[in-house]
Amino acid sequence: MSRVRIFAFQNETMIDIQQYIDEINSYEIKDNTSLEEFRIAFLGTKNKLKDLFKIMGQLSPDEKKEFGQKMNYLKTLAEEKFAQYKAELDSSHLVNSTSPQDDLSKPAFPFNKGTRHPVSIVLNNIIDIFTRIGFTVEEDREIEDEWHNFTALNTPDDHPARDMTDTYYLLSHPGRLLRSQTSTVQVRVMERQKPPIRIISPGRVYRNETISARSHCQFHQVEGLFIDKGVSLADMKLTLNYFAREMFGPDTRTRLRASYFPFTEPSAELDVYWGLENETDYRITKGTGWLEILGCGMVDPAVLQNLGIDPNVYSGFAFGMGIERQAMLKYKIPDIRYLFENDLRFLSQF
Ligand code: DAH
Repeated sequence: MSRVRIFAFQNETMIDIQQYIDEINSYEIKDNTSLEEFRIAFLGTKNKLKDLFKIMGQLSPDEKKEFGQKMNYLKTLAEEKFAQYKAELDSSHLVNSTSPQDDLSKPAFPFNKGTRHPVSIVLNNIIDIFTRIGFTVEEDREIEDEWHNFTALNTPDDHPARDMTDTYYLLSHPGRLLRSQTSTVQVRVMERQKPPIRIISPGRVYRNETISARSHCQFHQVEGLFIDKGVSLADMKLTLNYFAREMFGPDTRTRLRASYFPFTEPSAELDVYWGLENETDYRITKGTGWLEILGCGMVDPAVLQNLGIDPNVYSGFAFGMGIERQAMLKYKIPDIRYLFENDLRFLSQF
């Protein structure tokens, strides 16, 4: 295209095509708004170039031909500039979208992340409550031996819990069993750690129970153990009341009821007051209004001795609670079997 081309017309109007070329080339497009302004000015239905066509009628045939070529050139120039900037702005939008708000590696469509199992929700709750007051979490094996499940815990050889009708033994590995309580972890921790000890231990346990709405052959417990110099029953009561109020609300009433476990002396069970307002309350509290949530007691000196801890120097308390029972209370789940069937229609409600 020649540098400056001026058409002179009969009415002496002069049109400088180069002026339009310069205008298109120097038009500053920096965003979508100026791109649109550019489009309206040079490519829109009432664009500047159209005005030029109006003078076609005043031109000689030769002039018309050359003028037409110039006009096409201007139009193409504007179209190309528009297409180039549009592409640049579109792709710079993609670049911007890799900023922290838009992660391009994310899936394009939302997908179902699943939900937490009610047992996990309640367990996390329990762990939160105890770790706030200095307990740490210890986990250990599910396949145990008689020493850790019974003998070290002061359980006599003829205790009924040792019976095969109560405990699962691994016939392929004599002396091995599926732990029937997380109290085994008390023993494991005392073997590897000297006092002070302040742990909780969540885990799965197994018992040879007939499966029904209220009991299952597998369930979860959280064990607790606190051993130090001068630990008393008052410390145990304070700790467990704190737990019950954090778990069931600040106005929760509790009571410690005397009980028996081979590995604690004295032994107790902690009840929370559930109420007796309707038939369900009657059924789950067996007509008393009180609900047992855990077993506990002062660690029997014989247990400390079994593990090389001097009972004249150290004392402590222990407790063990079931998780399923608390999950069923919290979510009003009428049958424990729901917790083990992994039916999505049930699980997706949490
Ligand atoms: N292991 C007992 C059970 O399975 C619960 C228990 C009671 C745990 C008293 C303890 C405790 O640590 O001190 O029923």
